[in-house]
Amino acid sequence: MSNESLASLLKEERRFAPPAALAAEANVTAEAYEQARADRLGFWATQARRLSWETEPTQVLDWSDPPFAKWFADGRLNVAYNCVDRHVENGHGDRVALHFEGEPGDTRSLTYADLQREVSKAAHALTELGVQAGDRVAIYLPMIPEAVVSMLACARIGAPHSVVFGGFSADALATRIHDADARVVITADGGYRRGKPSPLKPAVDEALTRPGTENVRSVLVVRRTGQEDLAWTEGRDVWWHDLVDRQPEQHTPQAFDAEHPLFILYTSGTTGKPKGILHTTGGYLTQTSYTHHAVFDLKPESDVFWCTADVGWVTGHSYIVYGPLSNGATEVLYEGTPDTPHQGRWWEIVQKYGVTILYTAPTAIRAAMKWGDDIPAKFDLSSLRVLGSVGEPINPEAWVWYRKHIGADATPVVDTWWQTETGSIMISPLPGVTEAKPGSAQVPLPGIAATVVDDEGNEVPDGAGGYLVLTEPWPSMLRTIWGDDQRYRDTYWSRFAGRYFAGDGAKKDEDGDIWLLGRVDDVMLVSGHNISTTEVESALVSHPKVAEAAVVGAKDPQTTQAICAFVILRGGQEQGADEAGLVEELRAHVAKQLGPIAKPKRILPVSELPKTRSGKIMRRLLRDVAENRALGDVTTLTDASVMDLIQAKLPAAP
Ligand code: WT7
Repeated sequence: MSNESLASLLKEERRFAPPAALAAEANVTAEAYEQARADRLGFWATQARRLSWETEPTQVLDWSDPPFAKWFADGRLNVAYNCVDRHVENGHGDRVALHFEGEPGDTRSLTYADLQREVSKAAHALTELGVQAGDRVAIYLPMIPEAVVSMLACARIGAPHSVVFGGFSADALATRIHDADARVVITADGGYRRGKPSPLKPAVDEALTRPGTENVRSVLVVRRTGQEDLAWTEGRDVWWHDLVDRQPEQHTPQAFDAEHPLFILYTSGTTGKPKGILHTTGGYLTQTSYTHHAVFDLKPESDVFWCTADVGWVTGHSYIVYGPLSNGATEVLYEGTPDTPHQGRWWEIVQKYGVTILYTAPTAIRAAMKWGDDIPAKFDLSSLRVLGSVGEPINPEAWVWYRKHIGADATPVVDTWWQTETGSIMISPLPGVTEAKPGSAQVPLPGIAATVVDDEGNEVPDGAGGYLVLTEPWPSMLRTIWGDDQRYRDTYWSRFAGRYFAGDGAKKDEDGDIWLLGRVDDVMLVSGHNISTTEVESALVSHPKVAEAAVVGAKDPQTTQAICAFVILRGGQEQGADEAGLVEELRAHVAKQLGPIAKPKRILPVSELPKTRSGKIMRRLLRDVAENRALGDVTTLTDASVMDLIQAKLPAAP
């Protein structure tokens, strides 16, 4: 990483101290860092005691066969018992676990006692379908309570789940069913999206015609949309309400080994077939529970937590299901999109349920910025006290907007770095401890060891950049890639000996705080300088007329790569007439912010950007456009027509 490029984000000098009242009552104080530094494994052994174990572990980490870790290996526990039953036994059966808000406006609240009954019935139902401990169950559901219930029911009987995001196609579903060799699929007739029913069951029917899915013997179907003329395979398909509703409401949870598989979750990856990331029981639950308590400062008696992710992503697994429920939280589960039926829907939900902690992604924050400040201003958001961000680097301007317009210019914003593979949050400010810097995830959490290294694997000094690595195993780390130990070693543990390679570029500022710069494939080489796409995007977004930006390096005969930017202008900004003038203004703005080397060669105003279904910009496709090539695979895009719009905008190359 060149020094010119590094200097830029470090110019961000705004600082936000924790609110005194929050700091005074914070769940976790600066002492935690000291304790973990003094005795890292002892620290995690203490955190494991947050859980109820049937057999308390005496071992902490077994790293005798790296990179295959075992945590708390001689302990035994049941995850569903920890997330549900123990709260009922502790007198919190009447506390609401889930406030469900359907997109059409239907609602359902489930207390912990309700959840215990639902999970118990579903566990019996799966057993009746022949599911045994160790069998894999695929879950392909909308964001409805049955998704949470299904995951917990699987955990309860020791059947690893493989949740497949409901927006994925029949092909993607078939590949995942095949790879995990699933025996049962849980789905729904459909869910609501953008104001209308969106079918799911037909994709399951289609997936199950593909080779490799023959071992699926049952499909359990939730009735959500009431769609008529549903294709039905007798003997295989069974309605949830026919099977689950008649089961007993009591179920005795059985304890499993701490290293028993809890779930497989596929990461899309940019190349090759999807990787089945395997997570296990005791370490995963310990770290999701601890991080949810520490990073969000959750007070289960009074907080209302809302993570806007889909349960199909790891964020939904760890911070809708396992973290919050193991902590006895009350949370919101919302089925639909943020702009249905209007662009204030999320803020209306915050107001309605008195949400105190909101956890969302930069892409959603930038969309809200684009729609305008006046929309959140119409709602009472005063209940909010902590805001979180995850999924990609958050541009400092988006961070500041989030705090100002959603957080009343008062709430801490925690920028949380982690991955499907890490299972839980790894690098993040603590809301009652850290003086926050917009755009930086800042510090590894207590008990976590992360740093930045150069090409040779040497730790870089403060003020320099390179690759993010994790230098010690952590409890919720992936255990392997399902069925492919070698790929696990090659992908994560061979780039730098003995250290986990995250695939992200990063740098340390003068205080040693960590700034994430995006996937290493998203670093451009311009006239011998490494320039991160994230930095140029942040510079563009810091201009008042720009709502969102995506930057790629396009092959260039003179400079190796040339910076090409696609920008969405803020609501109300005129396009057309003076586009050329505006483009020049933006180029000058970037040059001023980052230096002349980072000045984009081309800037194209567009109305949409190509995003994956998890909200990440598909720079690969924009590179195809910038290099005048036929587009690569567009099947993981939310909306493939976006690319037609962008290509139609494209002027002849200068
Ligand atoms: C990749 C992991 C972790 C849940 C959602 C994504 C990027 C994630 C941040 C952040 C900068 C971030 C990284 C990472 N990422 N959070 N706070 N700042 N980048 O899970 O799909 O496995 O993606 O998302 O590039 O490697 P995922």
